[in-house]
Amino acid sequence: MPENRLSGGEPAGPGIARRDFLRLGGAGLAAAATLGVAGCGGGSGPTETESGAIEVIYSTSPSAQAVIEDLINQFNADHEGEIEVSFRPAPTDTSNAFDLLLTQFQAGGGDIDVIGGDVIWAAQFAANGWLADLSDRFDEGTRGEYLEGPVEAVTYDGGVYGVPWFTDAGMLYYRSDLLDDSGFDGPPETWDRLIEMARTVQEDSGVEVGFIFQGANSESGVVNGLEYINSFGGSALDPDDPTSVTIDSPEAVAGLEMERRMVESGVTPQAVSTYTEEESQASFLNGNAAFCRNWPYMYALGADEASSNITQDQIGVAPLPAGEGGQSASGLGGANYYINGLSDEETQNAAWEFVSFMTQEAQQKRFALESSLLPTRSALYEDREILDSVPVISLAGEALENTVPRPVSPYYSDMSIDMADQFNDSLAGNISADRAASNLQEAIQTIVDQG
Ligand code: GLC
Repeated sequence: MPENRLSGGEPAGPGIARRDFLRLGGAGLAAAATLGVAGCGGGSGPTETESGAIEVIYSTSPSAQAVIEDLINQFNADHEGEIEVSFRPAPTDTSNAFDLLLTQFQAGGGDIDVIGGDVIWAAQFAANGWLADLSDRFDEGTRGEYLEGPVEAVTYDGGVYGVPWFTDAGMLYYRSDLLDDSGFDGPPETWDRLIEMARTVQEDSGVEVGFIFQGANSESGVVNGLEYINSFGGSALDPDDPTSVTIDSPEAVAGLEMERRMVESGVTPQAVSTYTEEESQASFLNGNAAFCRNWPYMYALGADEASSNITQDQIGVAPLPAGEGGQSASGLGGANYYINGLSDEETQNAAWEFVSFMTQEAQQKRFALESSLLPTRSALYEDREILDSVPVISLAGEALENTVPRPVSPYYSDMSIDMADQFNDSLAGNISADRAASNLQEAIQTIVDQG
């Protein structure tokens, strides 16, 4: 079970509640200076390995570890005696990974040089001076070879603070064999229909769970909550004016009510309010669930006997269902390569060599073929081998047109903490959807005003 990110103010340091400690990350350099920790670093030279190579530590979630390790070995062999990259697995849950990095940055930078990290981190880490500005290296010409959205997500206040690795869009997975057995000829297009179909499949096949998704009090729960809200035509902030908070609307309330209805209707177990991607993936790949909301990465795991009891030909993928009066809406996710701006200059140069290698087309293609990660280089959406062998990529490529990004703001993690809390309380049935929306209206407005 993942650690509950906000499990109620346990101290993170002398006299600081964890929640407040995390919030300091959004408050910028002033807060860090008050703590007297961040803002320096880079004073000492690089760490060298026994062979005299510059050591570069790369950290990211281990979900595509086999490909990552293989590529690191290849890079190290090509740079023997010059650069040696070592891999450090980060927590799989993005909120836990964020908390760990935030703590390290606030304490002076830590020893991780290259971060494979969430798209939503760029603005906050950049605003605090913790990321290297890569605009000269990741130059305009090269940026033009990438999808626009992911490049925008690394652009903050005139700088470019990362290179897009993969992009992400929430998808509906379903057991095509069980749907066939129940006489359905395709996946549902609305949430209401999903509930009906899930119930039928549960009754016909005896499969334990109708639909599983991510409802934990963490970033994964935020993305899911926003998808429900967006699919009914609601939003958290006005997309045309991000200073206008719009979450207290009938559409947003309808979205959160639908999320709760999944549990009340019996298609989703109450435990969903503790589930991140990992638990939902386990439930679906173990063969215990008829439908699952997850990111494209899960498709590749269906081919891996060690992770899956079902096979890829039992897995269908479709756009997420629409709410009444709305349309399918996927959360936009993904990860970038960030370079620690507090690492010394020589190490940053070596780190760039590595990032530049990892982001070549050939490398992105391997992540697409072997880990079903959506490329960020546009040309790969025309690559026949990828389109033919990884159907989730062409489908998710289309879903990218209906994605809703999360706010690009140095205060995003503060908003996320509040959304995670309120969405989770509403999903667990502790408060009404209406209440969650009005609480959030106030809380997010305060954050926007302070920002
Ligand atoms: C995926 C997405 C990321 C999102 C996270 C939520 O890793 O790529 O953007 O924040 O899921 O759990």
